[in-house]
Formats: sequence, C-alpha cells, structure tokens
Amino acid sequence: MRTRPLKVALLGCGVVGSEVARIMTTHADDLTARIGAPVELAGVAVRRPGKVREGIDPALITTDATALVERDDIDVVVEVIGGIEPARTLITTAFAHGASVVSANKALLAEDGATLYEAAERHGRDLYFEAAVAGAIPLIRPLRESLAGDTVNRVLGIVNGTTNFILDRMDTAGAGYSEALDEATALGYAEADPTADVEGFDAAAKAAILAGIAFHTRVRLDDVHREGITEVTSADLASAQRMGCTVKLLAICERAADGRSVTARVHPAMIPLSHPLASVREAYNAVFVEAAAAGQLMFYGPGAGGSPTASAVLGDLVAVCRNKLAGATGPGESAYTRLPVSPMGDVVTRYHISLDVADKPGVLAQVAAVFAEHGVSIDTVRQKGRPDGDGEASLVVVTHRARDAALSGTVEALRKLDTVRGVASIMRVEGE
Ligand code: HSE
Repeated sequence: MRTRPLKVALLGCGVVGSEVARIMTTHADDLTARIGAPVELAGVAVRRPGKVREGIDPALITTDATALVERDDIDVVVEVIGGIEPARTLITTAFAHGASVVSANKALLAEDGATLYEAAERHGRDLYFEAAVAGAIPLIRPLRESLAGDTVNRVLGIVNGTTNFILDRMDTAGAGYSEALDEATALGYAEADPTADVEGFDAAAKAAILAGIAFHTRVRLDDVHREGITEVTSADLASAQRMGCTVKLLAICERAADGRSVTARVHPAMIPLSHPLASVREAYNAVFVEAAAAGQLMFYGPGAGGSPTASAVLGDLVAVCRNKLAGATGPGESAYTRLPVSPMGDVVTRYHISLDVADKPGVLAQVAAVFAEHGVSIDTVRQKGRPDGDGEASLVVVTHRARDAALSGTVEALRKLDTVRGVASIMRVEGE
C-alpha cells in the first residue's frame, strides 16, 4: 500500500461536487483500501468563495480554477462545473499538466468530446465520464468495457428524469402538460427554465455520447434529431392508452440494418405497456441495450441528483486512481468504425397519426390513397364521428414500419386535402 496520497482537484462544489467531497472524507478508509493509496482533496475551485461548505477545509477553496489545474502535483481533476467553457480549457490544461480527468459534463462531451479524447491521448492520461449520462446508472463503463467484445445494435432509453416525471403524471394522473410541469418544478425536478429538459437538449446530448460509444464512431449533438415533449397532449396519452401503450421521451441510437450507418434521435414515442421501459415511472431513467451476442440488457436507476451522480463520479475516481498506480490508462476514444450518422428521414419506424376529417363518403379512401402513394402501409384505422354531429370525425391511423421521410411526405400531402381539417398529432410507435 502506497502511503503518499493521490491528489484530487475538484472543479465545482455545487450539489454534485459537495457530495463528492463529503464521500471522499467519510469513506476515506474504504477508498484507500480499494485504490491501494490514500486520496486527498488538494483544492476546490468555486465561483462563490464566501459560501459555507461544511466538511471542506476553507484553505482548499480557490476561485482560480486555472491555477489549480496547472499545479503539477495534481493526479486527478474532477470536473463538475458543466457547460462548454471554461470547462473544456480547464480539462485540456489539466491533461497538459499531467492529471487524468473525471467529468460529469454531458454538454461538453456531446459537443466536443473529440478534443478531450485527443488531449487525454496526447498526454497519456485517462478521461472517464460515467456521471455524464443517466446519473448513478452504470452505462458508460458497461458499453466501453463489458460489451467491448460484442456488437451493439441498438440503445433505447429514458435518459431524462424531468420529462419522464411529467409524462408519467400526464399518464397516471390525467394531468395536462402545464400542470405536470408545474408539479415537476415544485418538486425540484424541473429547473426554473426547463428548456434543456422539455425540449430534449439534455437527452440529445446523452444520446450523442451513448451512440458514439456504442457504435465506435463519432456522434455529435448536432447529429441527433431532437423533438421535446411540449406538444404532447392529454389526448395523445389517452390515444396511447387505447392502444395499450404509454408515451415516453426516448433516446434511440440504432445501427442501420446493413450495418453501414447509424442514427441517433430523441423524441416522444408510444411504447407498449408490455415493454420494460413502460414501467419506468416518476423521474427514474432506464436504458435498454441490444447487442448481437448478449441479447437484451436493461440498466435502471436514478438518473440525476447529488448523491447518485457523485456515486458515478467516485466510481470513476477509483478506476482512474487504480490506473495511475498501475502506470496504465483505461480505454480511450474508440471511433474506428467511422460509421456516418444518417438523417432522420432514413429512420424506419411505425407511426400513430390523428387527423380531424370531414365525415362524408370517400374520405377514408382518399386518406388511404395518400398513404399508398407514399409507400406507407396502414396497419389499423379507427374512425369516430363527433357526438355533436358537426360533420367531422377523428381518424386515427397506425402504420406499419416506414421511412420517416415517407411519413413526412404523407403528412404534407394529407394537410393539402380539403377533407382533412387538421393533423392533430403524429407520434412514432417504438419498442414493439
Ligand atoms: N435534468 C436532467 C434530468 C438531469 O431531468 O434527468 C441531468 O442530466
């Protein structure tokens, strides 16, 4: 057992950072035994130095993050400040000064992971980021290491707790979107500005990271098709229930059937109640991985919060420290397949479309003809006249699998029909 401690610099001391510092102190003996050397908090960079931080020696607090990462005695930098800059410069500077890095920064990894990987490799250091996707759920390491000998074909997950909470309330309590969002805000799930969650940006960043690792190629945030949940209505949930489904915001990363490209997308979708993801309630996350040899695997747990995220950070910290003592590094970037990311139009899936139509002879045939012209095969149709007898009806069409581009063409043509008063909703159907 080495007695000289490994030195850790912490960038950020908010909900996650303070929990990392606390566990490093309270579990110091266990961490020492597991690593083979003590780990010591050597500095904590914060924006507000005056704030009282229980359990942290005030002498360790600094506002000069750059000076901290430039110290040559630091073995590991833990970055939990988030955002693109200054995080990116601080991380690359840390590598240049000989430290390995543990990061929880999904936005930066999704936007410019390549720069971080390249800097880590150039300086022979580790870059670990289990906490960047789905909080405490072990997902990055299983994909990077446990499944390194397999071929992952699909990753399908609920990776945003706030939107899962909102959709769950809409489903189980019959709440409208605004009411469910208010409840999520009151309970502290949704932030004052909920855009990143409800518009799917947070989930899209996670999808980019997962797709890149799963398919050994580079996938950036811009490559991910993104739709949020702000337009999901109580009527959509009711329609889903009638089909034996529920609605989830899904991150879906797929290898094309011919194996020559991949897709990554985030959007609300109906999934059958029999699918394991349908039973993921409240703010929990779950990710379903399909691999050629392993088959179907599911990872489930708390996807956010101080303690769960700190758990993932500390797991990485132990791994990085062990590598350091062994004079080794863990896995770096694996992007050798160079598979291109196809546009959303190439995605093949099923669709649930609700139309408001004129209730008169020939309308159903006219609508069906538009689907046929675009090569989209209909699975089921349900029509319901309005009780007020206003000459209009609701028509719900569920298709067989079709290309997204063909479906978009169909919807565009339907909107031009005089007999179609409006397209009430379009939702993809997944997980069958
Ligand atoms: N805001 C995210 C969520 C957690 O609701 O899941 C951080 O990624």
